[in-house]
Amino acid sequence: MNVTIRKEEKKDYKKVYEVNCFAFQQEYESKLIEKIRKGKNFIPELSLVAEIDDEIVGHILFSRIEIVGDSVFDSLALAPMAVIPEFQKQGIGSKLIKKGIEKAKELGFDSIIVLGHKEYYPKFGFQKASKWNIKCPFEVHEEAFMAIELTEKAFEDKAGTVKYPDEFMEVE
Ligand SMILES: CC(C)(COP(=O)(O)OP(=O)(O)OC[C@H]1O[C@@H](n2cnc3c(N)ncnc32)[C@H](O)[C@@H]1OP(=O)(O)O)[C@@H](O)C(=O)NCCC(=O)NCCS
Repeated sequence: MNVTIRKEEKKDYKKVYEVNCFAFQQEYESKLIEKIRKGKNFIPELSLVAEIDDEIVGHILFSRIEIVGDSVFDSLALAPMAVIPEFQKQGIGSKLIKKGIEKAKELGFDSIIVLGHKEYYPKFGFQKASKWNIKCPFEVHEEAFMAIELTEKAFEDKAGTVKYPDEFMEVE
């Protein structure tokens, strides 16, 4: 199976909407992506699609967030990611995450935050964010709120609370 991971282009928006609907069985995440794309925290290079034979089967989005503690520093939120059900458990999600991490490093980001499946993200190096005293602004299971350092000691002395942009909170 030949899977290509590439940057999302405008022509892909409709298909990405559908892929997220299929994967999540609802439109919430697809609408969230549309909101994020219109906001100032959207990073086009970090919206990636997975393609098989020119057909989009997966998508991942990383966008800019802040962590607010003694000072404010930039990070990335991984949200959402999706692979259509018939192509799940074949390593496509892993390829999307690995490529995203690589691209985020290239762009100079030093950390990523994710709220998600606690069994899934640790295999890519994510750990509980509480390890660095990084908190979610709303109540979540501690294990589900994770983070990864892309450079050595990126989180040293940077304890704080994640500030998600308004577009994350405004989806109906
Ligand atoms: C989460 C999601 C994006 C993962 O995508 P995926 O392509 O299935 O991910 P992978 O194939 O890389 O990994 C999934 C599992 O398959 C396993 N796997 C990877 N390659 C495999 C292969 N070649 N053969 C069999 N299994 C494989 C992985 O080890 C992993 O195992 P796990 O179930 O123990 O975690 C996908 O399941 C999805 O879209 N889910 C619905 C939406 C969702 O929940 N998104 C995440 C929000 S936090």
